[in-house]
Amino acid sequence: MSKDASPLAKAARYGQTFRDRPHPLHPTETAAQLRERFCTPLPKQGLPEGEVLDALIDAAEPGLVGNTDPNFFAWVMGGSDPLGVAADWLTSVWGQNAGIYQTSPAAAIAEEAVEAWLLELLDLPRESSVGLVTGATMAAFTALAAARTEVLARAGHDFEADGLQGAPLVRVFMSDEAHVTNKTALRHLGFGASSIVHLPSDEAGLMDPYYLAKAMERHSGPKIVVAQAGQINSGGFEGFAEICRIAQGHNAWVHVDGAFGLWARAASETRAQTHGVEMADSWSVDGHKWLQIPYDSGFAIVRHADAHRRAMSITANYLNEDPEDGRSPTSYAPGLSRRARGFAAWAILQGLGRDGVAEIVSRHCAIARHLGARINGIEGLEVLNKIGLNQVLVGASEEPERIIALADHLNAHAGVFVKTAAWKGRPVLRLSVISRETEIAHADHLADAIAASWRIVRDQ
Ligand SMILES: Cc1ncc(COP(=O)(O)O)c(C=O)c1O
Repeated sequence: MSKDASPLAKAARYGQTFRDRPHPLHPTETAAQLRERFCTPLPKQGLPEGEVLDALIDAAEPGLVGNTDPNFFAWVMGGSDPLGVAADWLTSVWGQNAGIYQTSPAAAIAEEAVEAWLLELLDLPRESSVGLVTGATMAAFTALAAARTEVLARAGHDFEADGLQGAPLVRVFMSDEAHVTNKTALRHLGFGASSIVHLPSDEAGLMDPYYLAKAMERHSGPKIVVAQAGQINSGGFEGFAEICRIAQGHNAWVHVDGAFGLWARAASETRAQTHGVEMADSWSVDGHKWLQIPYDSGFAIVRHADAHRRAMSITANYLNEDPEDGRSPTSYAPGLSRRARGFAAWAILQGLGRDGVAEIVSRHCAIARHLGARINGIEGLEVLNKIGLNQVLVGASEEPERIIALADHLNAHAGVFVKTAAWKGRPVLRLSVISRETEIAHADHLADAIAASWRIVRDQ
């Protein structure tokens, strides 16, 4: 086979043009239609590579979602930066297993570099350790596993030896609007809903430290607090300094879910909102959201590297690591065999540099403010959140349900992708500015489209 006919060359060529297809934003077929394309009988004999790639593209295209498009505002997702894609392809071409140092020294040392760069960019305690995981859910899982180890050890219980059987009851405190994946992570770790103390939240979905203090006083035993940097709907930040001071009074562990919001620390305009976040014990943050690293990429950052390692480490008689080895990736993330996520993260961080990360965060936040101001000028619509980050929540002043018709109209006619959410008892249009290429002009297009669609659906 000539070089040019290789599946890699074909995929690379396709990668440069796939965004030009006629419907780049919304899937065009139903689940049943996609099943017809994908769920064919497995061939007895393998097909030629080129034919397989053509078939894959044909099957997938009608079901693709355009989160790499600048007119995508539907969820907090990233736009898969081409540099990251290239590094990600190299990762697959190299086929490295980033389990331990010896299975891929390059992957292990790339992770060391990413760890140092992240701690510098996010200005978090430099002694922290970083696990490269699949996303913020697994980052919360990893960090909260370290929290579980540590708070139980402080209460005299050895989790690694004795598990949760016979362990003191651990209470976890969080806002009633904390991201659901924190509860998922806790469930995976053996903490059911009854271990969680939900604290009443304000109009931005944030806990009031007063209620935290009261609730923590009511409970004895080991405690963990989950705080939010970038509430999933409002984009708000909790009062970290006060939360951490209260938690420290109870010898508790504070974990911060900063899936996208923690990146506010990288830009001077937004950084103040994260005041005190560095006092926490652990943080989860995504790479595939604001950094635009191709899926999947997340980081579990833990101040107490020893607890992190105790919770994650895997040792076996055939994993004969040498004292001279570099860090073992699997000591900081779940799983042994794992994707070498450090390469794409390393490439993106190099490609953006400190200024590039700051630029993308401040640009998106400025676009969100601009969008909010434009929408506030549309009669009958109102922005419901204080826009400090990249999230814009839009409600209808009268007949709130009409927002759903507005979203449907926009998706069908305006060349944008938007979504609604239920927020504080009413439906809202929930706009997230997060895609790599989104500029002010895209926000203006969206604002014009909202005004035009609203005129139509308001009078229906
Ligand atoms: C605030 C917050 N926390 C956690 C998550 C979960 O992140 P992931 O989907 O990367 O696992 C998200 C994802 O949207 C989020 O926005």
